[in-house]
Parts: sequence; structure tokens; C-alpha cells
Amino acid sequence: MLSGLSGKLALVAGAGSGIGKTVALKLAAHNCKVGLFDLNEEGLEKTKSEICSTGGLCASFVGDISKREHVQCAVDNASSHFDTTPTIGINCAGITRDAMLLKMTDEQWDSIMSCHLTGTFLFTQIMARQMVKAKAHGSIVNTGSISGKIGNAGQANYSAAKAGIIAFSKTTARELGPKGIRCNTIVPGFISTPMADAIPPHIKQMVLMMTPMGRFGETAEIADLYCFLASENSTFITGVDIEVAGGLAM
Ligand SMILES: NC(=O)c1ccc[n+]([C@@H]2O[C@H](COP(=O)([O-])OP(=O)(O)OC[C@H]3O[C@@H](n4cnc5c(N)ncnc54)[C@H](O)[C@@H]3O)[C@@H](O)[C@H]2O)c1
Repeated sequence: MLSGLSGKLALVAGAGSGIGKTVALKLAAHNCKVGLFDLNEEGLEKTKSEICSTGGLCASFVGDISKREHVQCAVDNASSHFDTTPTIGINCAGITRDAMLLKMTDEQWDSIMSCHLTGTFLFTQIMARQMVKAKAHGSIVNTGSISGKIGNAGQANYSAAKAGIIAFSKTTARELGPKGIRCNTIVPGFISTPMADAIPPHIKQMVLMMTPMGRFGETAEIADLYCFLASENSTFITGVDIEVAGGLAM
């Protein structure tokens, strides 16, 4: 059992699907109170009912991570619903808008910057302000991608945003370390989720050949790392980016 999770309030962005959903379920199993945040109301309700069916405590908040007022509203409502400050922030919200550079549209570029970079900025800033105001120590875990470390044809927008998230989180770690707030980035390789399911079969085949483990990861194989970085078992770990990629790109 990880220490320092029980009774804490965690806000999980992207909790309606994939990695974020599994992290939310695991945090609830560690007796965290969990605020579930996502654009997808239906997905949120499914996550909520799975947590409730196991006796976990959670509340859902529909919103867009790229909109300041939505994130602020979710943080404020989670705080008042559970009557405590959220001290764990998990950001797994994400989309892809793939196209080769020569064909990429402004819309494809902007929507990725908005969801991933602006979303990470807003989520981290608003969560951190809440913690600083309450003089509470805490942990924020953002999500990068192996594409942000080695690039990926067809993902100039996504890989640029994901590289930015790693640098942003390191800077946040430097600024907020003195206040007892940690910030780290988890860097997934290819993990079986609805996002990865949308990858064309020939690209999937190529990825499998490049991955020493010879398969995609499962969400359960990455979610424990989010919980560890949120917990008091990792109190001296900040500013790192940790790959969970089955050996891809080592
Ligand atoms: N699955 C992979 O192979 C993989 C690889 C590298 C990085 N990632 C990253 O991991 C994170 C989780 O991805 P996943 O694979 O679980 O995908 P997913 O599609 O299963 O889940 C992403 C969730 O984010 C939500 N979301 C999207 N835009 C949002 C917005 N603007 N505001 C709020 N919520 C929003 C979606 O509704 C969805 O529920 C993402 O940041 C993704 O870029 C995934």
C-alpha cells in the first residue's frame, strides 16, 4: 500500500477514458477522494459508477481543460464538495490531430496546443495556486509522450506539445519545490486505450517491431506510477520524466 494517499483529494483530468480512468480507479482504491474531470460526460459517468460500485468516493465535473473558467470551476467545486483542498493533480486529458507537416492545418496545430499545452498550464497553475493558498504540500503529475522525446512522423503538433509539457513540468518543479509542491511527467509509449486503438494497423505493426517488449502496454501497467508519484513514497522525486514504453526509444 502506498502511503499518504488515504483521505487526500485528487483531481484527475481525462478521467473519462483510458489512462486517466484507470488512475482514478486506482486512486479511489487507495482511499483517495477523487474529482473526475473530462469533456466527455458519458465517460465520466461510467468511471463514476465503477468507483461508486466499489465503495469509493468521487464526484464528476464536466469541462474543457483548455478553458480557464472550466478548470477553475472544477477545482473550486471539488474543494467544496469534499470540503478539502485538492493536493494531488493528475493530468491525463488528451487528443491527437495527426497530419504530416506539409499538410497540417492551423486548426490541427492549434487544437493540440490548446488541449495539451494550454490545458497543462491551466491545470497545473490553478491546482498549484489552491495548494499554495492552503499552505499544503502536493503533487502534480502531467502526461508527456514518447513522441515528445524522439518525434513521430505525422505528429509535429503533438510531439511539440508533449516536449513542451516535459519542459513546463521541470520549470514548475523548480519554482514550486520550495513550497513543497512536486511536479513530474509520465511519458507513455504505446498504451492500449481508445486513443491508441485509432492508430492505423500498419503503424501499429511498426511500433510493435520497435518495442522490445513486443506489445502495447495496458493502462494498469502505467497507472501505478501516477499513484506512486502522487503518494508520499516519492516525496524527493520532482522534475523528472519517466518513460513507460516497453523499451521503445531507450
Ligand atoms: N495511449 C497511448 O498510447 C498514449 C501514448 C502517449 C501519450 N498518451 C497520453 O496519455 C494521456 C491519456 O491518453 P489516453 O490514451 O488515455 O486517451 P483517451 O482518449 O482514452 O483518454 C483521453 C481523455 O481525455 C479527454 N479529453 C480530451 N480533450 C479534453 C479536454 N479539452 N478537456 C478535458 N478532457 C479532455 C477525453 O474525453 C478522454 O476521456 C493523453 O495525454 C495522451 O496524449 C497516450
